[in-house]
Amino acid sequence: MTEIGFIKCFLEDNIGYARAKFADRASLTVTSKANASDLLTEVDLTLQKRAVDQIRATFPGDEIVAEEGEFSRMPASPNARCWVMDPIDGTNNFVRGMFPVFAISLAFAIHGRTVAAGMAYPGTGDIYLAEEGKGAFVNETRLLVSQVQQVAESRVDLDFGGVEDRNAWMERAQSLFRQSGQVRCHGSAVAAIGQVASGDLDAFVHMTLNPWDYAAGMLVVEEAGGVCSRLDGKTLKLFDGKDGVLITNGAIHKEIIRLIRR
Ligand code: IPD
Ligand code: CA
Ligand code: CA
Repeated sequence: MTEIGFIKCFLEDNIGYARAKFADRASLTVTSKANASDLLTEVDLTLQKRAVDQIRATFPGDEIVAEEGEFSRMPASPNARCWVMDPIDGTNNFVRGMFPVFAISLAFAIHGRTVAAGMAYPGTGDIYLAEEGKGAFVNETRLLVSQVQQVAESRVDLDFGGVEDRNAWMERAQSLFRQSGQVRCHGSAVAAIGQVASGDLDAFVHMTLNPWDYAAGMLVVEEAGGVCSRLDGKTLKLFDGKDGVLITNGAIHKEIIRLIRR
């Protein structure tokens, strides 16, 4: 089985489970991790365990990096064959049910670069897939970023993240906040990055992100014609999102970098 074939099957097999659990969220088992807003559910753990078991059976020896438990670390060798997973991104939305913006993200990387990626959105039923050099698709439709040329006309997801991130936002991004045409914060990096790929958003900005939050999304956006970098404009590597993540349609990328303070 190819890596993209595995990703597609996994997401197709599990999107219904996540959707059913969201519909029945009143009976979820929920605990908190680092703080009261950092939530963990049985669904995060179940999806991650299913993926780990299936990857080990299908691709023995591959490394696995994922958000929960012992997998929440960088790979031993950054060049190795490595799977990167966020079982549920937007867990807070998932638990509180404010609106069904959450996603499952699964990527396959080699030499520290994502080469196959998938993101599933149980709220809409959409599955986004991309392979390096082969384009990005939502279901069977090709994804293309927007043509918006100026920040003043753009719709951007400024993802405020945790409390430390919000302090960084106050110090570094007030100009961007003021000058963007429309501002959103969906509370799911994977959902917002997907919206950049589809052209519904023009940019996504985050002060610090973990690899599982953008491993799949960065390839999907690049294959849809967009651009990914750190906040200083330098190359965004898969395992260094601590330097911030900027994902755009390409046209407004440099303008946003100029608006973010170093
Ligand atoms: C979070 C979401 C959120 C972002 C946080 C992430 P989680 O992921 O993507 O939008 O601001 O930094 O941790 O915890 O819901 O998987
Ligand atoms: Ca996440
Ligand atoms: Ca998560």
